[in-house]
Amino acid sequence: MTRTILITGGGSGIGRATAFEAARRGWAVGILDRDGESAERAAAEARRMGARRVWSAASDVTDERELVDAFGAASTALGPVDGVTASAGIEVNAPLPRMSLDTWRRVLDVNLTGTFLTVRTAAQALQDAGRPGSVVCVSSPSAFVGFAGGSNSAYGASKGGVSAFVRAAAIDLAPHGIRVNAVVPGATDTPMLYFGLDGDELEAERARLRDAAARQIPLGRMADPAEIARAAVWLLSDDASYVTGSHLVCDGGLTAKSANDF
Ligand SMILES: NC(=O)c1ccc[n+]([C@@H]2O[C@H](COP(=O)([O-])OP(=O)(O)OC[C@H]3O[C@@H](n4cnc5c(N)ncnc54)[C@H](O)[C@@H]3O)[C@@H](O)[C@H]2O)c1
Repeated sequence: MTRTILITGGGSGIGRATAFEAARRGWAVGILDRDGESAERAAAEARRMGARRVWSAASDVTDERELVDAFGAASTALGPVDGVTASAGIEVNAPLPRMSLDTWRRVLDVNLTGTFLTVRTAAQALQDAGRPGSVVCVSSPSAFVGFAGGSNSAYGASKGGVSAFVRAAAIDLAPHGIRVNAVVPGATDTPMLYFGLDGDELEAERARLRDAAARQIPLGRMADPAEIARAAVWLLSDDASYVTGSHLVCDGGLTAKSANDF
C-alpha cells in the first residue's frame, strides 16, 4: 500500500532523510519545519527523488493551532495522511547547577510537548477520516542511559518522556488501528551535533566526534541519517503491521555496551 506521510522537523537531519527514503519508495510526502525554507528545499529534493506528491510548510510543533492547520492543509494537498514521523527536536546542554528553567522548559516544550501535540493531532485526523495509521517518534539513548559527558538532564528527561509517551499512546490508539513506535538513533551525523558552529570549528568538532565514535561505539562510527530514516520508514510501512509501543534501537551498539572495561 502506498503511503502518504507527514514529517515534523523534516527540513534537516533525520526528518529530511526520512522524507527522502519515503520519496524513493514513491510515497506522498509532507514536510513541516519551524524553518519553512529548509522544509521547502527538502520538498523540492523529495520531488526529484520520486515522491508521488510533495507539500511543505513552516510549522512550529509547540503551536497547537499551527499543527492542526498544517495537518488539514497537508491532507488537502496530498490526500489523507496515514503516517507521521515526529522528528522535530532540539538539544541544549548545561551542567545541572547551571541548567536554567528557561532552557529546561524550552527543551521539554519542543521535544516532549511537541511530540505529544504532533501525535494527538495525527490521531484526531486519522480518527476523523476513519483510517488506520502509523506514527514514529524519535527518542534517544539518553532516555535509557546517562551520557558520560553529563550536562544532559533536560534533553534526557525530554526523551525519557517521549519513550514513556510512545508506550502510553500505543495503548490508547491501538483500538483505532493506529500504531505508535519510536526509533532510537545513536550519534547521528546531522546539523544538531554542530549547532552554533561553522567553518574550522565545525570541522574540528566533526573530527572529534568521529574519533570518539571510533573508540566508543561498537560499530566504530556515527550513523548516517539515512540509516535511521530506513528504520523509521519500516515502522511507517505495513511490514511493521504487528509492531506498536516498541523502540527500534539504531545506535551501533552504544547502549548495549557498558563504558566500564573490567
Ligand atoms: N543527531 C543525533 O545524534 C540524534 C540522536 C538521537 C536522537 N535525535 C533526535 O532526532 C530528531 C531529529 O534530530 P536531527 O539530528 O535530525 O537534528 P536537526 O537539527 O538536523 O533537525 C531537527 C529539525 O527540527 C526542526 N525544529 C526544531 N524545533 C522545532 C519546532 N519547535 N517546530 C518544528 N521544527 C522544529 C529544526 O528546524 C530542524 O530542521 C530530534 O528529535 C533529535 O532529538 C538525534
